[in-house]
Amino acid sequence: MGGILRCLALQIVVLIAGAHGANILGLFTSLSPSHLVIQMSMARILAERGHNVTVVTVLKPPSLHKDINHILVPMEEDILQAFGSLVGGMTKTDNSNAYTSMFRSVRQLSETFSRMGDVMKQPLVRDLYEHPDNKFDLVMVGYFMNSYQLALAHKLKVPLVLALSNPPSFLGYFLGNPWEVSYVPAMNMAIESGKPLGIGHRMLNLLGNLAQRLFMFIIEFRNARIYRDIYGDDPTLPSYEDLNKNISLIFFASHGISEGPIRPNVPAVIEIGGIQVKDQPDKLPQNLEQFLSEAPHGAILLSLGSNLKKDHLKSYTVQKMFNVLSKLQQKVIWKWDDLDNLPGESDNILYSKWVPQDDVLAHPNITLFINHAGKGGLTEAQYHGKPMLALPVFGDQPSNADVMVMQGFGIKQSILTLEEDSFLQGIREVLDNPKYATAVKSFSTLYRDRPLSARETLIYWVEYVIRHHGAPHIQSPVVHMSYIAANNLDVYAVILGTIVALCFITKLVLSLIVRKIRNNSTKAKVNQNHKLKKK
Ligand SMILES: *[C@@H]1O[C@H](CO)[C@@H](O)[C@H](O)[C@H]1NC(C)=O
Ligand SMILES: *[C@@H]1O[C@H](CO)[C@@H](O)[C@H](O)[C@H]1NC(C)=O
Ligand SMILES: *[C@@H]1O[C@H](CO)[C@@H](O)[C@H](O)[C@H]1NC(C)=O
Repeated sequence: MGGILRCLALQIVVLIAGAHGANILGLFTSLSPSHLVIQMSMARILAERGHNVTVVTVLKPPSLHKDINHILVPMEEDILQAFGSLVGGMTKTDNSNAYTSMFRSVRQLSETFSRMGDVMKQPLVRDLYEHPDNKFDLVMVGYFMNSYQLALAHKLKVPLVLALSNPPSFLGYFLGNPWEVSYVPAMNMAIESGKPLGIGHRMLNLLGNLAQRLFMFIIEFRNARIYRDIYGDDPTLPSYEDLNKNISLIFFASHGISEGPIRPNVPAVIEIGGIQVKDQPDKLPQNLEQFLSEAPHGAILLSLGSNLKKDHLKSYTVQKMFNVLSKLQQKVIWKWDDLDNLPGESDNILYSKWVPQDDVLAHPNITLFINHAGKGGLTEAQYHGKPMLALPVFGDQPSNADVMVMQGFGIKQSILTLEEDSFLQGIREVLDNPKYATAVKSFSTLYRDRPLSARETLIYWVEYVIRHHGAPHIQSPVVHMSYIAANNLDVYAVILGTIVALCFITKLVLSLIVRKIRNNSTKAKVNQNHKLKKK
């Protein structure tokens, strides 16, 4: 008995140790800062868990954990800017615009990709896979139409997982996820999910899905060319088409059962939406804590992101905002960079250059979040159940704000035409009408109710893949099937062919029989005539 127990204990230790202190390489070369925020949170969580995490980025990450080994492969400024505006155009919710700008951007995207394609040949990155001392257990690639970078995992011959900042409707096909066009809205489709669709909407949705597929097809076609140009002479690498057939699983920044759409997923789809939000908030700095603890009427957090300053925020707009906010009973924490030039002094306003946004939003006395509808801020507010007033300006902000308004979590206004009256009305509406807070609080409850938190899910599945050497057993066979086989088209063709053949044969046999009978009866007639003549 004791022996068995000891043996069991040993096995458990071995199992756990098998994935502990693993060497994990993150290739996070996305040019979108909001993707990088999510990917760096994943790296941080894995580092905190005790893994040796090395990340390669082309952008400077917003924050770095002390235990993460960071390698920066800088890009030229012009690529970064061109890309920023492209992504902004592609994420609009309005269908027609989104699709036209999506296709208009193909050429530029491809050019960016071709210049990013050689990240792997940079000496620092090269060293990672050529230096014999480097031993990795897992490669995690931040995916943004950069399949050619999956080559890194093939170079290292280690299991590969992807991280994607979208729901599984996009890219699920890499894993053999079913393509449900009759009820799962395509990206950019402003269709309310969770309800059966009429024929009109289903038609639109099919077209939207086809447009998305066509877009990916064109990008992939061009990427394949880039891949051949860069790695064509390397015999150790598979062909472009086979690169993505060895993905253990994909982490999606979504949570289908609270956010929708409801859809079937293969086991390799792992959802970790909200991964960038801490399970437990950190303690606030003393001045903020003090300020928020004396807020009998609640408090407002105002943060308009960091790249909004000069170009969009006119001084008279700031003045109007100050005039409104300084007269409120509520306390206001205003994220403001230039502490030498304040919009104005008021007892109820605390300016701070740096605000731990996630931790402040977690504070129970915060009753309103005024923001610029950046993806990160919205997720944090939804996680903590805080209603919002959004002042979007550019990029994906307007469409983020539209979705937030559609969900009933708040309202949006234009910062370019902001007036004192309407701004005050907007603030009063979100503070006084309980429907916004109720909606976002009930979403928050659903969003957090999971068997494992986003953080635990990430850790569990990363270690699972390492423990089971890539976990090939969870892969759907569809990944290795052609479109025809995966959809059974050949079987249907055989059945149809058989039916057609059977019909044909039946018809032939029948006509033969009919002819025979006719022949017989004419013969009989002829015989009869013959006999009559003889008489
Ligand atoms: C962590 O990873 C880096 C990069 O591969 C490597 O140089 C270093 O030796 C690793 N540290 C440990 C303790 O394995
Ligand atoms: C797929 O990945 C596994 C490790 O997870 C590796 O052993 C195998 O060789 C890879 N297959 C291909 C075709 O690269
Ligand atoms: C919120 O404000 C009220 C009123 O000032 C105060 O009594 C309460 O302690 C505050 N809550 C927290 C968590 O600080």
